[in-house]
Amino acid sequence: MQTDAIEQIKDKIDIVELVRQYVPNLKRAGKLYKACCPFHHEKTPSFTCSSEKGLYYCFGCQEGGNIFNFVMKMENLSFREALEKLADMAGVELEPAKLLTAEEQRRATARKLLDFARSYYHKNLLSRAGEGARTYVKSRNLTKETCEQFELGLSPNAGVLVEAAQKAGYTQDNLKDAGLCVQTERGLREYFRNRLMFPIWNQRGETVGFGGRILGEGEPKYLNSPETILFNKSHVLYGLNFAGPVIRKADRAVLLEGYMDVIGCHQAGVAYTVAPLGTSFGEDHAKLLKRYTQNVIVLFDPDEAGLKAALRAALILTEAGLFVKVASLPDGLDPDEYIAQYGKESFEDILNHAQDLMAFAAQRQLALHPAPLSAQAKTQMVTELTQIIAKQPDAIVRREWVKYVAEMLNVDEPLVQQRLTQTLRTATPSARFSPARKPGIIRADQATNVPSAEEDLLAWILKNPQYTVLCSQLSAQDFSSPALWEIFQAIVKTHMQYPQADNLIEQTAQALPTQKNEIVKLALLPTPDDFDPARDIAACAAKLEQAGLQRQLQKLTQQMKSYGTGNVPPDVFQTYMQLQQKLKKYRG
Ligand code: GTP
Ligand code: MN
Repeated sequence: MQTDAIEQIKDKIDIVELVRQYVPNLKRAGKLYKACCPFHHEKTPSFTCSSEKGLYYCFGCQEGGNIFNFVMKMENLSFREALEKLADMAGVELEPAKLLTAEEQRRATARKLLDFARSYYHKNLLSRAGEGARTYVKSRNLTKETCEQFELGLSPNAGVLVEAAQKAGYTQDNLKDAGLCVQTERGLREYFRNRLMFPIWNQRGETVGFGGRILGEGEPKYLNSPETILFNKSHVLYGLNFAGPVIRKADRAVLLEGYMDVIGCHQAGVAYTVAPLGTSFGEDHAKLLKRYTQNVIVLFDPDEAGLKAALRAALILTEAGLFVKVASLPDGLDPDEYIAQYGKESFEDILNHAQDLMAFAAQRQLALHPAPLSAQAKTQMVTELTQIIAKQPDAIVRREWVKYVAEMLNVDEPLVQQRLTQTLRTATPSARFSPARKPGIIRADQATNVPSAEEDLLAWILKNPQYTVLCSQLSAQDFSSPALWEIFQAIVKTHMQYPQADNLIEQTAQALPTQKNEIVKLALLPTPDDFDPARDIAACAAKLEQAGLQRQLQKLTQQMKSYGTGNVPPDVFQTYMQLQQKLKKYRG
């Protein structure tokens, strides 16, 4: 391992100096440095970084890490690439790349094979065999430059690619790993034959799969690579490799339905556009987009299926804490047709007139219910719309939406609010309301979010692990969220494993990678000036225990009520007494 080199590099490179190269107006604020986050658009600084700890964290996009994470993200590099770059900067010699594990080797080979297939298809399109396909591409208004940029290709007849790949040294297993072939009863079969090929890149520009369109009419119209070790459709947005920087700059993204729409828009100069890969848009896509902007306009084909899909995607984006608008095209034209016919300005004009999600949903409801609205129609519509409002994590927007619905349907606002409250209460606890999720969505302008007592405690023991013994009474019930309890356990365990480690923060983050951002955030929380580790940690642990006991007691009291007087089972009552007993010490 390169552990030594990594540590040397960390010692030599001051994260503040490194960050400053990308974020010139990093300013000192106490022990930390602050600036507007380079990873998302914001007006007030919520990006912090600490020289002393070698870490950064953004309270706006809730991501953080060390110098390696920073360059990886900033320059879209793999870890190895970041390591090489920073080693160079620090003047540290690296050992030659370590031997790859079998899994890494498989991935590396699949990657190379996909690159091979991509250029094979592309050359094939440009060859004599590609004439028909080229005519088709032209008929779709795509220029030669666009063809080059998106590296469109043509998959050949059956057997041709397999042969070429094998000649180049790839095996059948390699072909299957890359998702280019499938095993059938009659042997190995190529996935794509005689299709117009769209290489699919991830946001870092690595080819991870293909989409293949039939030339002309026919079924299935599109074929996508199967899921492979490199390709997970729910993690990829088509066009994001090109659109990423443009989205950051424009501070908005447009979500379209198809490959052709994305290509058409990029060609016409509207390059902040992306699309899911035919499969439905999901939470991971929303999270991916959120790394680039908070503002998304959904623009789907103007048919009923498109409208439904647009609403679905809009809800997912809203739930993920993004601001969503919905745009619609007139004339029954798909985005790629529209922009080819009317041009960039007209298209952007439509984007600029996109409707707020609530206005869009409300109009859809109005279209479904004939005027004048009956009382029954109104109550149905309020129910439908409050279900959407319930997904809005931003309290201010929620409030505005309630007002809007009340006014539009001419229903008293408190009644809409009441229906919303009911919806929120009866909703099956969606991920948003389960405590494992971060409380609400922390937006950039809320950078001053106050840590809870639980977060304080975790932050303190992370920095003073020798005092974890003072927290030995704590259990899962004392934490309001399983995630925080998980972090607590990880800290204790990691400290026990490496009692001498001076990089407990990073060790813990490694032990619990799903909570890396939260751990980094904790590590960067400031400690009070008069902080006394033993006194404050013990007091905080006691506070948590007390709160935990009270929560349990409350739950139990409810339960006992439901049994009714005299019918409480003895074991329940015993637990009740035990809790009371434990709480006694806090009642003095
Ligand atoms: P054109 O019809 O050539 O304009 O392409 P498009 O990109 O506009 O396709 P369309 O709007 O019909 O469909 C949107 C997206 O859904 C496509 O880009 C594909 O990703 C996906 N899709 C469409 N048809 C199929 C299909 O038959 N199979 C699969 N797997 N995906 C499809
Ligand atoms: Mn289309």
